[in-house]
Amino acid sequence: MAANQDKKRILTGIRPTGALHVGHYVGALHNWIELQDEYNCYFLIADYQALGDHFHDIDLIRDSVLQVTLDWLSVGLDPEKSSFVIQSYVPEFAELTMLLSFITPLGMLERNPTLKGELDALPVERRSVGFYSYPMSQVADILLPRAHLVPVGDDQSPHVEMTREVARKFNRMFGEVFPESKTLVGDVPRLSGTDGQGKMSKSRGNAIMLSDDADTVTKKVRGMFTDPNRIRADIPGKVEGNPVFEYHDAFNPNTAQVDDFKARYREGDIGDVEVKLALAEAINNFLDPIREKRAHYEQNMDLVEDALMTGVAKTRVIAAETMEMVRDAMRISSYTKNWK
Ligand code: TRP
Repeated sequence: MAANQDKKRILTGIRPTGALHVGHYVGALHNWIELQDEYNCYFLIADYQALGDHFHDIDLIRDSVLQVTLDWLSVGLDPEKSSFVIQSYVPEFAELTMLLSFITPLGMLERNPTLKGELDALPVERRSVGFYSYPMSQVADILLPRAHLVPVGDDQSPHVEMTREVARKFNRMFGEVFPESKTLVGDVPRLSGTDGQGKMSKSRGNAIMLSDDADTVTKKVRGMFTDPNRIRADIPGKVEGNPVFEYHDAFNPNTAQVDDFKARYREGDIGDVEVKLALAEAINNFLDPIREKRAHYEQNMDLVEDALMTGVAKTRVIAAETMEMVRDAMRISSYTKNWK
């Protein structure tokens, strides 16, 4: 374990509000898998944060904790190299959130563009105090393991920026405890939904799930949005902005076939069905080994539980260390120590 401690630390996470889709793979998981050797990674299942907009649906959160863990294991996140951690299993996340909230000006939340957009989209009666302050808890998520790097999409950058500001302020007031965490931006774009209307998202019903079986994938691909002007196979079609070709680029390793399809599509020399069936096959080939691993874990649920419990235990070690540093630096929780 000593070697592990020389590595820089990464924390990233996800809200358990649904199983994961192939867009998560392309946009995040693929990158996380590669980071595991070089860094000491903490992968957080942020169930407290999920309460922010899903406190009315705890059943969904409960089920999603399992689904997300299965998704992670089956794509190749490795619980021996990295730590899988459930936020509510490590009480220090909540404690650090509370302590840091006192040195954090309200303005940091008021100015956060991601939070602002999300609040505007929520009906008034669902805008809770907990939701309003979730970026604060995300700051603590990152700072509890004293993470150096945070691999996330663009929308999360304001939270990482806020993390740096809070860390700087803490260090200035109480002494050096936290690193200045930086965003690690991947070079991967967001995958469009199967309907071609914005990004892939389970709640919009335009997602191909990592856990979908082969028939479901084929059905979803056959129903995909393509070039709407192309009502017959002999009409020249558009490849750019066409999600069918975007997915071919992402999932079909046979680039010669993809190039040939694109050329013929532009000339009106191939039908949509042929392009789609080849795509369904490519996605199913990509998902097959993932499905196999998932089935293995579903039949060995003790391994799934172990993965989480080992990660929680590893995280609690660094969490206890950080909290001791924080309490010492702030000089709280020690009043009675030299009263004797
Ligand atoms: N906000 C992230 C999301 O919605 C999830 C998350 C919670 C997170 N805590 C984090 C991401 C800490 C990075 C670091 O996907």
